Amino acid sequence: MNLSRIAGVGHYVPENIVTNDDLSKLMPTSDEWITERTGIKERRYFTEGKDTVASMGANASRMALQRAGIDVSEVELIVFATTTSEYYFPGSGVLLQRELGLPGIPAMDIKMQCSGFIYALSVADQFIKSGMYKTALVVGSEIQSNAIELSERGRNMAVIFADGAGAAVLQQTQNKEHSILSTHLHSDGTFAEELYMRHPGSLLKKRLTAEMITNGEVLPHMNGQLVFKNAIVRFMEVISEALEANNYSKEDIDLLIPHQANLRISEYIRAKLEMHEDKVFNNIMRFGNTTTASIPIAMSEAWAEGKIKPGDLVCLAAFGSGFTWASALIKW
Ligand code: COA
Repeated sequence: MNLSRIAGVGHYVPENIVTNDDLSKLMPTSDEWITERTGIKERRYFTEGKDTVASMGANASRMALQRAGIDVSEVELIVFATTTSEYYFPGSGVLLQRELGLPGIPAMDIKMQCSGFIYALSVADQFIKSGMYKTALVVGSEIQSNAIELSERGRNMAVIFADGAGAAVLQQTQNKEHSILSTHLHSDGTFAEELYMRHPGSLLKKRLTAEMITNGEVLPHMNGQLVFKNAIVRFMEVISEALEANNYSKEDIDLLIPHQANLRISEYIRAKLEMHEDKVFNNIMRFGNTTTASIPIAMSEAWAEGKIKPGDLVCLAAFGSGFTWASALIKW
C-alpha cells in the first residue's frame, strides 16, 4: 500500500527581530502584558526589499530538501499553505514553483489559516497514497506584519502575529513504521467573523472606499477570548481523534507539536493531557504566532535539536480562523 513519509523538514525566519519592548515604543503595551497572556518575548518581521512569502518558503524548502538528500528536480507537487499570499491572485504556490525552477508541476494554495499546514500535509498525503505523485513539497509561509497595524487599535493582533516559513518534503513509502498514519480535518464557518480580515472581500456588498481604509476596517479582527475558549476544546478533541483512530493513547506520544497560537493554550493542553514538558514542543516565545508556518518551523527546530528521532510518534495539532482545526499522527 502506498503511504507517505516526511523525508525532511526545514525553516526560514527573517533576521529582523522585534522584541516586546520594541512594540511598547509603538503602542500602549508592555513586555509584562504580552508575556503573561501569550508567552511571546520576541518575533520576526520580514526584511524590506528582501523577504516575500514565496522567497521565505523557497529558503525553507531548500533546507528541507537538503536535509532529506532529495534533489529539487524530484519534486512533483507543491502544496502551499498561506493566509498572506503576495498577490490577491495568483497564489504563492506558483511563485515558489518559479523560484525553485520547476515549471509545469502542479502548485496549489491552501487557505485554511492556522490549520493550513496540516490541511496541506493531508492533501499531499492523499496524492501520494493514491499513487499520483511520489515526492511533494508542503510549505507554510506568512508575512503577517504587513497586515497588522502597529498602534493601539491594532495591538491585540500586533503582539501575537508574526512572519516566518517552514517546509516538509513528503516521499512515497510502503513502510507503515515510518509514515503519516492519519490526518483529521475540521471546520465550522459559524465562527468565520470571530477571527478574520474582511477586505478586500465581497460580503460587505459595496465597494471599498478610502474612508474604510482610514477607519481601520481593512485591519484583521479577533475575538481573543472566544478564540481561546474554542481553541482549547478543539485542540483536545482533534488530538484524541488522531490517537483513537490509530489505537494509541496519550502516553504513546513522543512529541506533541501544537500550532504555536499562544503559550497559554499549549500549556493548557499539556496539563490536560498530563504530558511532561519535554513532550510538548514550544517556540512561540521566540517567533510569535506565524499561522501556517508555525508547525513546520517547530518540526524543523525539534528535528534539528534531536527531539524527533526515527520511529517516534509525533502528533501535530492546530486550531484557527474559520474556525478550522486539524491533527496529524506521524510515525517518523
Ligand atoms: N497590550 C496591553 N493591553 C491590551 C493589549 C495589548 N497588546 N491588547 C488588548 N489590551 C487590553 C484591551 O484593550 C482590554 O482593555 P480594557 O479592559 O480596558 O477594555 C484588556 O487589555 C483586556 O483585553 P482582552 O482582549 O479581554 O484580553 P485577554 O486577557 O483576553 O487577552 C489575548 C487577549 C488576545 C491575549 C487572549 O484573548 C488570547 O490569547 N486569545 C487567543 C488568541 C489566539 O490564540 N489567537 C490565535 C488563534 S490561531
